[in-house]
Amino acid sequence: MAIVQGLIPPSRENWEWICYVWQFFPLITAIQWVIDWYPQGKTSTESRFNIPGKIGWATMESVGFLLLLVIFYTLPKELGIGELPWGNWTMVGCFVIHYIYRAIISPLFLNPSMSPISPLVWMLAFLFQVFNAISIGGWVSGYGPTTVEDWAGRYWAMEFGLVIWAWGLLGNMFHDDDLREIRRAVDRKQRREAEKLGKAPGNVDKVYMLPKNGLFQYVLFAHYLCEWIEWAGFWMVGGVHCHPARTFLVNEIATMLPRALQGKRWYEKKFGKDKVGSRKAIIPGLI
Ligand SMILES: NC(=O)c1ccc[n+]([C@@H]2O[C@H](COP(=O)([O-])OP(=O)(O)OC[C@H]3O[C@@H](n4cnc5c(N)ncnc54)[C@H](OP(=O)(O)O)[C@@H]3O)[C@@H](O)[C@H]2O)c1
Repeated sequence: MAIVQGLIPPSRENWEWICYVWQFFPLITAIQWVIDWYPQGKTSTESRFNIPGKIGWATMESVGFLLLLVIFYTLPKELGIGELPWGNWTMVGCFVIHYIYRAIISPLFLNPSMSPISPLVWMLAFLFQVFNAISIGGWVSGYGPTTVEDWAGRYWAMEFGLVIWAWGLLGNMFHDDDLREIRRAVDRKQRREAEKLGKAPGNVDKVYMLPKNGLFQYVLFAHYLCEWIEWAGFWMVGGVHCHPARTFLVNEIATMLPRALQGKRWYEKKFGKDKVGSRKAIIPGLI
């Protein structure tokens, strides 16, 4: 049952082509090293074309796991594969769990506020999700391992990878929540004061402070670092030949590293170099 003939789910030829092209994504993110303009989050700009932050994050990030699920449901049928082994299900589970958190729970239920996003950033993130879902989706749905024997002999590596993936996800959630707590605390204070004065409380949009807990003591983008650890574990689950998981990790690093370095400059400008201290952007003691 093809949704878009040859693409969703992808034919083998199209899948190989998409995986090949997707490896060159770091060439696009090279622009982030030379241009500081990045209209999202801390560096969002005012524009009537902006997409509200929560809706923007939910829509641009949902497409990946939904597309992956569609491919996982349709491609094996097209290829005549009866049942895929549990290793494939494990990778799909890891991907879907992460993106239900990132695309649904985090923006729509947990984050106190999110800055508006430029349609350009939204579109690039949307395309990131589409390419990544087709690349990983094709691999787990029939073009990668398809039998229990294909996974045999590397269960220890898969289990180790799963543990790394889980710690990375928990670390990412913990540090995301530390950032949320900054705005929740300001919100509580504003509400108390507003109640005393009998006024309506203000909002917490664009309230920023230096985070300090957990790995934030050493790096300003601890949540990014944990996400890299998470996807490194995911690659370990798939194995060294799982090129879609490797491309995913490399592409995340390619876009998040310059963003974190830009973020460090932003923190130093806003709070002063003395307040930021010896903290690095993303890798403790290094970068
Ligand atoms: N950005 C990427 O390229 C990228 C790629 C893949 C995965 N991710 C993951 O997606 C998640 C969010 O990424 P992001 O780039 O949006 O992270 P971020 O800029 O650090 O923002 C995360 C959330 O925390 C708020 N926030 C950030 N710094 C704060 C501070 N100092 N004080 C108070 N609130 C603060 C932000 O509000 P505002 O929106 O108002 O700034 C936003 O709601 C992260 O866990 C990251 O690992 C990001």
